[in-house]
Amino acid sequence: MQRRPRRNRKTQAIRNMVEETRLSVKDFIFPMFLIDGVNQKIPVASMPGIYRYSLDLMLYEIEECVNLGIMAFDIFPAYPENKKDKYAKESYNPDTFYLKAIFTIKQKFPEIALMTDVAMDPYSSDGHDGLVEEGKILNDETLDILGKMSLAQAQAGADILGPSDMMDGRVGYIREVLDSNGYTDVSIMSYTAKYASAFYGPFRDALDSAPKHGDKKTYQMDPANYNEALIEADLDTEEGADFLMVKPALAYLDVIRLLRDNSNLPIAAYNVSGEYAMVKASAERGWIDGERAMLESLLSIKRAGANIILSYFAKEFAMLNR
Ligand code: PBG
Repeated sequence: MQRRPRRNRKTQAIRNMVEETRLSVKDFIFPMFLIDGVNQKIPVASMPGIYRYSLDLMLYEIEECVNLGIMAFDIFPAYPENKKDKYAKESYNPDTFYLKAIFTIKQKFPEIALMTDVAMDPYSSDGHDGLVEEGKILNDETLDILGKMSLAQAQAGADILGPSDMMDGRVGYIREVLDSNGYTDVSIMSYTAKYASAFYGPFRDALDSAPKHGDKKTYQMDPANYNEALIEADLDTEEGADFLMVKPALAYLDVIRLLRDNSNLPIAAYNVSGEYAMVKASAERGWIDGERAMLESLLSIKRAGANIILSYFAKEFAMLNR
């Protein structure tokens, strides 16, 4: 035999040299769940190891993560039913707890990249990402609300806005609102190819944000579709997105590669709640080695072409690599 690929696998030292993909703590954005109140740390039942924190305890958690090298966080607030309405008004109420929390977090940790989610669902009594009228999700009317929410988050100090609602034209609309109010430096990480996925289940438990009726198929993408991701990527790019995102990650590695090969923008992938829960649940039963499954999943997302990974595993990964 002239060629023996196994020679490049014979020792750890050689395997290290030929390793094509390497994960770093710098690759990660850590999504965190925020609740109102003080001294609250409530486990999310379907996401072992993940909690909803009140601001005071979240600050400690962020400090620990920063000490482990995590520099980027995405904050998702959970609101009680009595704060929700049809128009998601709480999302831009200047006195609401999540905007104050963003301000405080940014004051305490000016060096971090703080990301926020722009979508109506945590604040909507319908549990949808857009305004609902007679069972229909209205696109252009929703943009107006997203604009107000975006401006409020920028004013609170968010560095990166993450429009996750999949309304048409949102990136351009938000960019225009930000720029005309002087927030030209606030970035947009667009959820470009966000699929109507079963893997968001545990997240909706964490935020009590499941749709009250219907599903999200008229705005989130059909899992069957691949080329359509390029249409979304072209629009987001034209409209001024700074980053493109694919979500979920593991069932859509081909879409991550597609966007990586067809765009010059940084590509992010969201390793979502259900993907986290699957690893945790099977590891708890002793059916797989949770740590190895975590590392392999994260590595595969990077190998597929993601430059940035949003993952609930971020802290666990950072702890292993300290
Ligand atoms: C809502 C939003 C969702 C997630 C992030 N932002 C859920 C949804 O679209 O229903 C899911 C994140 C996860 O599952 O980890 N706009």
